[in-house]
Amino acid sequence: MSLKNKIIQDVKRRKLSRALSDDSSQTNDADAVVDSLLTLGSTTSFEAFSEYKDIQLHRFAAEKMRIESPFFKVHEGLSQDTSMIAGREMLNFSSYDYLGINGDPRQNSAVKSALDTYGVSSSASRLVSGERPIQGQLESRLAELHGVDDAAIFVSGHATNVSTIGCLFNSADLIVHDALVHNSILEGVQLSGARRATFPHNDIQALEKILVDSRHKYRRTLVVVEGLYSMDGDYPDLPRLIALKDQHDALLMVDEAHSVGVMGETGRGIAEHFNIDARDVDIWMGTLSKSFASTGGYIAGSSALVDMVKNLVPGFVYSVGVAPMMAAAALTAIDILHQEPERVAKLKSNARLFESLAKKQGIDTGLNRQLAVIPVMMGDSISAVKAAHLLSEAGVNVQPIIHPAVEERLARLRFFICSSHNATQIEQAVEALAKVMRELDLI
Ligand SMILES: Cc1ncc(COP(=O)(O)O)c(C=O)c1O
Repeated sequence: MSLKNKIIQDVKRRKLSRALSDDSSQTNDADAVVDSLLTLGSTTSFEAFSEYKDIQLHRFAAEKMRIESPFFKVHEGLSQDTSMIAGREMLNFSSYDYLGINGDPRQNSAVKSALDTYGVSSSASRLVSGERPIQGQLESRLAELHGVDDAAIFVSGHATNVSTIGCLFNSADLIVHDALVHNSILEGVQLSGARRATFPHNDIQALEKILVDSRHKYRRTLVVVEGLYSMDGDYPDLPRLIALKDQHDALLMVDEAHSVGVMGETGRGIAEHFNIDARDVDIWMGTLSKSFASTGGYIAGSSALVDMVKNLVPGFVYSVGVAPMMAAAALTAIDILHQEPERVAKLKSNARLFESLAKKQGIDTGLNRQLAVIPVMMGDSISAVKAAHLLSEAGVNVQPIIHPAVEERLARLRFFICSSHNATQIEQAVEALAKVMRELDLI
């Protein structure tokens, strides 16, 4: 074992023993189990992979602390402001359905009609096996929503980032991104082979320094940020980013996974929020899985960009076209967004209510800006998991975000606020949250 691995294993062993020794039910053989799980073994059996042992180790620790796993919860019906989990109706704060569109009869009927017309599958890549009109219609509507020329839809939001960034940039280029961007962006950067540089979260001065020092050494430079950060609920200063990228001859990409449908008065995203011309951003990326209550992702921007994506990016060229039903679902969601902008206003007033009630209770809600994502800081992963567990017992479903998804000291509960929540539900949730945090000595 390398020295680095040994140090990592020792730290894990110490942390785990400390956590388990807080529990009076600890058995004498706990150390032996931990040791066996930390011992690296064969390289040809999956059971012996250190990655697999890590998963088992976390399960073992949770079991010892009598904490049910907060992952892979089964929602037995429609997951909206409430959800049926293990036979119990829970208040639900873990849904991306920010505008409460999933299950809307208009969306269901559009999906059924697409199913009747096209069947389930679009069978193969659009490039080789042809298109369905509904796919092109969705692309036009997305382009119109963002205020750009065109869009290209993919079967997955994650694959959209990986494949687009991975394809359009290479080792002659520099990609600079916010430290908190989504995994799909990081994977794309890695795949591209471009030189990667990170700036601290929302620190535009640090970004400027990187551009001043390094821009001239590379062919193309891409700056990547998110419209609304999915773990922290804050957003970047887009006008300053645009000025900076223009000044340094760089391209700007904004991932609007959590901001479209949420930011701006009519939900057109961060460009509407700042009242800027969307064409000032070079690459818009979004997902169909959040405000649009479907699945898939897209790139929107100039005709040249979209033409390149549709002819070069492997995740588009070599992957099946978005299923017609999923395109119909997203199209209907955009219609509903246009017809009922009050959903966007309701989502924002819900977020304001949640935050003000939490503040009154002395709860730390991190960097949030009173939008769809409100983190509640817990201080460490074990407290986050325990709090989620106690809240679940109290009838509130919220997901803990723990290391390695965030730094250990920044472990949190992440509340997704939707337009479908009502004031009473939010009051009940914050009350339950405050009670649990007092019980755990966190406030
Ligand atoms: C910022 C961001 N980008 C991309 C994705 C990937 O989207 P999808 O889940 O639709 O594949 C996510 C997923 O949560 C995300 O948060």
